[in-house]
Amino acid sequence: MNKYRLLAPGPTPVAAETALAMAVPLPHHRGSAFRAVLERVRAQLAPVFGTRGDVLVLTCSGTGAMEASVVNLLSPGDLAITVRGGKFGERWSELLAVHGCQEVPIDVPWGQSVDPLAVERALDAHPNARAVFVQATETSTGVLHPVRELAALTRDRPDVALVVDGITAVGVLPMPMDEWGIDVLIAGSQKAFMIPPGLAFIALSDKAWAMSERARLPRFYFDLRRERDTQTKGQTAWTPAISLVLGLSDVLDRLHAEGLDAAYARQAVLAAATRAALVALGFRLVAADSPSPALTATFAPAGVDAAALVRRLRDDHGIVVSGGQGDLKGRILRIGHLGYVDRFDVLAIAGALELALAAEGRSGTLGVAVTAAQRVLGSEAAMAAGRSRPD
Ligand SMILES: Cc1ncc(COP(=O)(O)O)c(C=O)c1O
Repeated sequence: MNKYRLLAPGPTPVAAETALAMAVPLPHHRGSAFRAVLERVRAQLAPVFGTRGDVLVLTCSGTGAMEASVVNLLSPGDLAITVRGGKFGERWSELLAVHGCQEVPIDVPWGQSVDPLAVERALDAHPNARAVFVQATETSTGVLHPVRELAALTRDRPDVALVVDGITAVGVLPMPMDEWGIDVLIAGSQKAFMIPPGLAFIALSDKAWAMSERARLPRFYFDLRRERDTQTKGQTAWTPAISLVLGLSDVLDRLHAEGLDAAYARQAVLAAATRAALVALGFRLVAADSPSPALTATFAPAGVDAAALVRRLRDDHGIVVSGGQGDLKGRILRIGHLGYVDRFDVLAIAGALELALAAEGRSGTLGVAVTAAQRVLGSEAAMAAGRSRPD
């Protein structure tokens, strides 16, 4: 028997406590019990988004919230700047195209983060641009884009919104939208929020809400004005994924009990330990300069087939990680360490990679990655970040 470990960059593992919190007789979504949960959940999401404004709970996957950001801000023919440094950056282009908007793409080599100067130049060259669309973490490469610097470019431009897909960033690292000046911030349930797929979260700045009044793209299910009006009254516009909201409530209780700063520190330690393990084994990181604490994307050592490693981890060791997407398909592994993941999951993947490489004919791998990871995990600060005592 192998213990099943889901170490993909989403969906992420669901704790037994959370699964049980969802396994209850279904409350009705127009009743007072569910209303109390929804209100509590929305209040607890706000500090994670770093906003005093509304965080809306949408029943859809993350892409639904991405689409909601487009249709609530733009009108047909509007121009928007997109940061395209991976598969999810390219999704902005697809969304803008189907909605008849124009695009100024900033193509960033996969594995690199966008240079804020390139965005500033695009903004200066296109004063009619209405929005900049970017990922915080580009999950296809594991890169972290410089959201804070981008927000500094847009916050004083009254007609330009910065839209941040924080689907693999919110809850992993601080993303204080009010303080930085992010106009739209998006998150997804199956990532740092540690529940199954099916919910997305979105918050808008005052600037973005004002734009939503002027926007003329068609919207119905994703009309955020209607959703806000309903959610401020303790309900959702449409039937929500009730069970997932119950699970979310359990997760947010535990996240706030741990403390957001402690959770961010824990995520940073897990990421650092994972990177140390991989580098010690001769892997080359895809995001060499600006890696996200959410996941680590890595090329296999020379001569080793990345896809074979993904298969071995799954078939021999019960560990599910992701392979590459787009141009990186078959060439990389993507290991998630966001959400309900702890230091012993990191040691498990480190040890399993050693065994998988040995099975692929490499010598001298045993103990190498585990030792490198333990050096990071065993430091005093790391121990403090991860400390918790079972009752
Ligand atoms: C950064 C990012 N954006 C968008 C998405 C799409 O989200 P979903 O698959 O939930 O629609 C993902 C999912 O992996 C993601 O990581």
